[in-house]
Amino acid sequence: MKKIYLSSPTIHGEERQFVNEAFEKNWIAPVGFNIDNFEKEIAEYINATSPSEFFPIALDSGTASLHLAYKLAGIKKGTPVFVSDSTYCATVFPITYEGGVPIFIDSERDSWNMDPAALELAFERHPEVKHVSVVHLFGTAAKMDEITEICDRHGAVLIEDAAEALGSFYHGRHCGTFGKYNVISFNGNKIITSSSGGMLLTPDKESHDLAMKYATQSREPVIWFEHHDIGYNYRLSNVCAGIGRGQLLHLEEHRQAKKHIYETYRAGFADLPVTMNPVPEGCDPNYWLSCMLIDRGAGVLPMTVLDAMKEKANAEGRPIWKPMSLQKVYEGSKLVTVEDYPVGYDLFDRGLCLPSDIKMTEEDLSLIIGAVRSCFGKKSVTIH
Ligand SMILES: Cc1ncc(COP(=O)(O)O)c(C=O)c1O
Repeated sequence: MKKIYLSSPTIHGEERQFVNEAFEKNWIAPVGFNIDNFEKEIAEYINATSPSEFFPIALDSGTASLHLAYKLAGIKKGTPVFVSDSTYCATVFPITYEGGVPIFIDSERDSWNMDPAALELAFERHPEVKHVSVVHLFGTAAKMDEITEICDRHGAVLIEDAAEALGSFYHGRHCGTFGKYNVISFNGNKIITSSSGGMLLTPDKESHDLAMKYATQSREPVIWFEHHDIGYNYRLSNVCAGIGRGQLLHLEEHRQAKKHIYETYRAGFADLPVTMNPVPEGCDPNYWLSCMLIDRGAGVLPMTVLDAMKEKANAEGRPIWKPMSLQKVYEGSKLVTVEDYPVGYDLFDRGLCLPSDIKMTEEDLSLIIGAVRSCFGKKSVTIH
C-alpha cells in the first residue's frame, strides 16, 4: 500500500524551469536572480493586502528568519518574551539562541492560538515585558485585532510566526503583516516549498539592510573581510529560490486542495464525537493541516486513531504540537493561562493532525475516514 504523508511537497513544472535557468546561468549560489525575484513576488503578494509595505528577505529557513526577527526586535540575554505555548519549537528556540526568556501564553478555543485574555493577564503580572511572539497554528489566524490592541497599549513589539500561514487571512489582511517583524516558512511540508527556506518580512529598508548584513556574516562594506558584529550564513540558495518561485504560482490551487481535504474530513466525521480545528470569525485560513479534537468522554485516544490510520490506510498523522511549557528543555518556565487546565494541554491530550497531503485521491481520503470511523465503532460512509 502506498504511503500517505502528512503534508509532502507537490511539485508542478515551473519549479524545474527556474532551477534550470539557475544552472544554465551558473548562478548556483546564495545570490542571484531567483532570490531577487522570489523576494519581489512575495512582496507583491503580501503587500497587496497589507496597509503598510513590507521588505522581504529570503533566508534558508523559517527558523533562521525567526532568529533574525528576534535580533532586530532587540531580544538579548535576559529579555523576557511572551510567546505562544502551543507551537512548533522553532517559534521559541531562536528566543533562547539570543538568551531571551520565553514566558508562555496559553491558547484559546476559537482559534487554538494565543489567548488575548491570557496575554492581558501576562501584562498585568509582568508589565516590564516589551516583546510578544504569536503563531498562527496550522494556518489558522490568531485573534490579531485583540492581540495587536493589547501590544500597542503596552508598547510591546509584536513578532508574527506565520511559518504555517502563507495564504491565510484575517479580516482580509494577510497573516504575517500585523507584526513589526514577521516570518514565513517554505519547508518541504508547508503549503508551498522551496525545499527548505524562509522569508523575513521587515518593516523598512533600514531593518531589511540590517537583516541582510546579519544573514551574510555581518560583513562590513569594504573589500576585505571586516566584521564588527557576529553574523550568520542564512541566505537562501538561488536554486531553492527557483523552486519557491515555481511553487508560488500554485499557491491558490494548493489552498483550494487543502480546503477540500478539510471539508471532506468534516463531512466524513459529522456523526462522530469529534470536532475539526476551528475556523474563527474573520479568518480565511489556508487549511495547511486538517486537525481533529476528540470529545471528552468519547473513550478514544488520539494514539488509537493515529495507529488505525497507519494500519488501515498507511497514512501519516501526528499529535497536536506538544505545548512548549511541557517540554523538558523549558522545564520550570512560566505559563500564563486563564483556565484551570490550560487549553493547549487539553488540545494536546485530545487532538491530532490528519493526513493533509494535497496529492491524496478521493479513495485515499475515504480510506482514512473509514479508518478513523472504525475507532468509534462506525461503518465507512460514501462522501461523494
Ligand atoms: C510554527 C512554525 N514556526 C517555525 C517553523 C520553522 O520553519 P523552518 O522549518 O522553515 O525552519 C515551522 C516549521 O517548520 C513552524 O511550523
